[in-house]
Amino acid sequence: MEKICMVGTGYVGLVSGACFAHLGHKVICVDNNKTRIENLDKGIMPIYEKDLKEIVAEGVKNGNLSFTTSMARGVEESNVIFITVGTPADKKTGDPDLSFVFAVAKEIAENIKQDYKVIVLKSTVPIGTAESVESIIKRNNPKAKFAVVTNPEFLKEGFAVADFLNPERIVVGANDEKSLKIMLDLYKPLTDKGFHLLKTDTTTANMIKYASNSFLAMKIMFINELSDMCEKAGSNISDVAKGIGLDSRIGYKFLNPGPGYGGSCFPKDTMALERMAKKVDSPLKLIETTIAQNNARRFKMVGKISAAFDDNLRGKTLAILGITFKAETDDMRDSPSIGILSELNLAGANLKIYDPQGKKHGPEFFPYATFCDSTKEALKGADGAIIITEWNEFKQLTAKDFKDNLKTPVVVDLRNLYTLESMKGITYHSLGRKTVK
Ligand SMILES: NC(=O)c1ccc[n+]([C@@H]2O[C@H](COP(=O)([O-])OP(=O)(O)OC[C@H]3O[C@@H](n4cnc5c(N)ncnc54)[C@H](O)[C@@H]3O)[C@@H](O)[C@H]2O)c1
Repeated sequence: MEKICMVGTGYVGLVSGACFAHLGHKVICVDNNKTRIENLDKGIMPIYEKDLKEIVAEGVKNGNLSFTTSMARGVEESNVIFITVGTPADKKTGDPDLSFVFAVAKEIAENIKQDYKVIVLKSTVPIGTAESVESIIKRNNPKAKFAVVTNPEFLKEGFAVADFLNPERIVVGANDEKSLKIMLDLYKPLTDKGFHLLKTDTTTANMIKYASNSFLAMKIMFINELSDMCEKAGSNISDVAKGIGLDSRIGYKFLNPGPGYGGSCFPKDTMALERMAKKVDSPLKLIETTIAQNNARRFKMVGKISAAFDDNLRGKTLAILGITFKAETDDMRDSPSIGILSELNLAGANLKIYDPQGKKHGPEFFPYATFCDSTKEALKGADGAIIITEWNEFKQLTAKDFKDNLKTPVVVDLRNLYTLESMKGITYHSLGRKTVK
C-alpha cells in the first residue's frame, strides 16, 4: 500500500484518487477550491460521472480517502504526490498553460521535509515539463529528496471510473529505478490482473499521450471529411464506416461523423502537439489540417442547419437536443454546441434546449436560450429539431415523436442517431447520407 496525495481534485484527480483508494491505497485529495472540498466532504460530487459517487463514498467510509485544502498535510502524509491540475491552452499562444502545474510544484517543494517523494505528472504536459518541475523543486528546496515521473491519464469522460480500473494501458515514464519501483507497486493491483503497463522515459510518456489524442482527433476529422464527400457523391457514410471499420487494422471506433471534436482534451492537445512539433522543426501537417478542419466544422454545421430551413432562421424556434461535448458527461468545455448555437442565435433563431446534464452549466454559455426539462418540452411547437449530442435517450425517439410534437417535422441530426428507413414521414437531414422526406 502506498500513501498518495492527489493535487487537483477535478475529473482526473478525483477519479484517480477514488480509484487508487478502491485499490487499497491511502489517498488524500488536495484542492485549492474550498467549496469543492467542502462539498466532497458532504458527498456532493463536482462532476457527473458514472459510479463516481459510490466509489468516493466507499473510500471515505473505509478510511482510504480524504479531502483537504492543505497542501502541507497532503505532502506530509504521502510518499507519492500526483499533480492533476489543468493544463488549458494559453489563449494567446495556443501552448499549454503550465502555470498551475508550476505553482503546485513550488508549493510541493516548500512542504517537502526529510522523506523521499515521488512526484508524478498525471496532467497532460509537453515534453520537458518533468525537467522544469525538477528544477522548480530544487530551486525552492535544495535539500529535498525526490524524483519526477510522468504517468499520463487515458480515461474517457463518461466512463472514467471503469476506464481507470480496467485500463487498456498504463504508461509510466521514469528516468530512475527507485521511482519506477514505487510506481510499479502503486499499479500492482491492476498489473496483477493482467492490465498492461508500459515503462518508458518521461519524455516518451508525454509523447504517447499527445499522439494518442491527436490520432483520435485525426480519425474523427477523416470520417467527417469523408462524410461530406458521401453527401455530394450520393453514398452512405454509415455503410462506408461499417465497411472500413470491419478491417481490424482500422477498427470501427471513432468512425461516426459529427459536429467535430470538443471537450477539455482533444482541442488543446492537438494544438500542443502541433506546436511542439514546430519547435523541434518537424511539423505535423496532418495535425495542422485536423485542427483547421475541426475549427471550420462548426460553421459547416451551421450552414447545413440553415439550409434545412431555406436559409431563413429569423424568428424560427429550434429544439436543441444535447449541448454537452459528448454523451454521459456534464462537461461543456469546448463543446461544438457553443459555436453552433451562438451562430444560430445571431441568425435570429429562438432556441429551446434540452440536455440530460446540460442545465447545470448550459445557462452560462447560452443565456439567450430557454432550458427545458424533457425532450418533449423542447420539441413541442418548435419549427424543427437539431441533434448535437448522442445521448442514449435521444436514440429512443421515433419519427412519430418528431411529427406529433414539432410544428413542422424537420430534423437535422448531427450524430446520425437513426436509420434513414426509421425516419420516413418527416424531413430528416443527417450527415453523409441522403435527406429523407
Ligand atoms: N478530463 C479528462 O477527461 C482528462 C483525461 C486525461 C487527461 N486529462 C488531463 O488531466 C489534467 C487535469 O484535467 P481535469 O479535466 O481533471 O481538470 P479539472 O479542471 O477538472 O481539475 C483541475 C483541478 O485542479 C484544481 N487546482 C488548480 N490549481 C490548484 C492548486 N494550486 N492547488 C490545488 N488544486 C488546484 C482545480 O481547483 C480543479 O479542481 C489536464 O492536464 C488534462 O489535460 C484530462
